[in-house]
Amino acid sequence: MAQVKTKTVWFCKECGNESPKWMGRCPACGEWNTMVEETVVSGKKNASADVSVPGASRKPLPLSEIDSSVEERISLNNAEVDRILGGGLVEGSLVLIGGEPGIGKSTLSLQIPLHCPHLKTLYVTGEESARQVKLRAARIGGDDAGCLIYSETLMENILSQARSIMPDLMVVDSVQTMFSQNVESSPGSVTQIKETASMLLRFAKDTGIPVILIGHITKEGSIAGPKILEHIVDVVLQFEGDNRGTYRLLRSIKNRFGSTSELAVFEMTGKGLREVSNPSEMLTPMHGEGLSGVAVSAMLDGARPFLIEVQALVSSAAYGTPQRSATGFDVRRLNMLLAVLEKRAGFKLGVKDVFLNMAGGLRVNDPACDLSVICAVLSSNFDFAIPSDVCFAGEVGLSGEVRPVAQTDRRIVEAARLGFKKIYVSSFGSQETVAGIEIVRVSDVTSLCRSLFKGD
Ligand code: TYD
Ligand code: MG
Repeated sequence: MAQVKTKTVWFCKECGNESPKWMGRCPACGEWNTMVEETVVSGKKNASADVSVPGASRKPLPLSEIDSSVEERISLNNAEVDRILGGGLVEGSLVLIGGEPGIGKSTLSLQIPLHCPHLKTLYVTGEESARQVKLRAARIGGDDAGCLIYSETLMENILSQARSIMPDLMVVDSVQTMFSQNVESSPGSVTQIKETASMLLRFAKDTGIPVILIGHITKEGSIAGPKILEHIVDVVLQFEGDNRGTYRLLRSIKNRFGSTSELAVFEMTGKGLREVSNPSEMLTPMHGEGLSGVAVSAMLDGARPFLIEVQALVSSAAYGTPQRSATGFDVRRLNMLLAVLEKRAGFKLGVKDVFLNMAGGLRVNDPACDLSVICAVLSSNFDFAIPSDVCFAGEVGLSGEVRPVAQTDRRIVEAARLGFKKIYVSSFGSQETVAGIEIVRVSDVTSLCRSLFKGD
């Protein structure tokens, strides 16, 4: 056996890059102050590199001989989760659910087995005691017939239990609390996280048991522990949203078995997470006519069109320097749009405070929202309410032109479906018509303002 040697290496917390010495800046990802010191043992038998595991005897096969039948999908009795997974959980897949503390990762991953009593599930918790899980399960309700709770953090024990129980599904909460004896460093360190994830991946592939792994995310919003974790797993789902609000968004950011442009919306209720099958309902106005500073945007998140309310408040600056603040929207983009309004359309907004907010705690980066941002700002500035059955979809360029956006037709159809009567889009896009909605095509910001506020 090789001689066991212990050495200290430095890992980048962001990308997992390894270096023999400390560096202020990671040469791989360019981040500053991300190197952490860890002890690694070389020469020791490493489970994730173990060649004696079943499956190591597999042989290379010609492509033509490989079974290409559609992989088995396990339905999780949750239409939204099934949809973002691409039609259910694939056997032997490793799914990572990331998100900030308190956003609902543990709730969702406990809710899945409780709503699937026909699946034998092993729920491993390293964060909460079995009693706490029981209390949570009582809140969520459902049928706990198939659910086994195991409070443990040592990977070797977990995997030996899992191999003897052979469940239909395994949940591990969370990757940061688990540790393996093969690695010297403490739980949550880069090497431990990598080791835990690769042990689980190997387990999932060997046994065909799908594993749902929970991971925390860092302040910066990436999954804590390295990017490497995202490379190891098959699917990465990320919880987003304001955890003080009730709406939570689950986005697929990597999916080896389906599309990544999927978004699921949930509402946190007293009994766990409720699926919101029509997100436009929660994001569009709940008030009557006559409020200024509100414009609805027909946006697209991934493959899903929905309508979202953009709110703006424009007031005279109380201090010398006007404030610009945006929630859920890039403040630099807001500044750019204000500059376009000032320079190209002659609106004097330089001395005004501008506050912008996207409804529902959603973070928007679809350029199609530009038009509704501009309209919400002008509506608030002139205290002129935009009728509540009007919506917008268009990008605004630096010279004030309104540019067409991707999949305009789908946005129009969604707006018509939700009962909107008029939509403003770019005049440079396709000229198709859609029944039940008036399509107003505008070429630049000035003509938009004329049409909207003067009724030309
Ligand atoms: P949790 O799922 O533990 O979040 P995470 O595992 O991502 O850290 O908790 C989510 C929050 O939701 C928690 O603050 C309590 C709340 N909650 C409800 O409002 N209703 C419920 O039915 C449950 C189970 C939790
Ligand atoms: Mg949790």
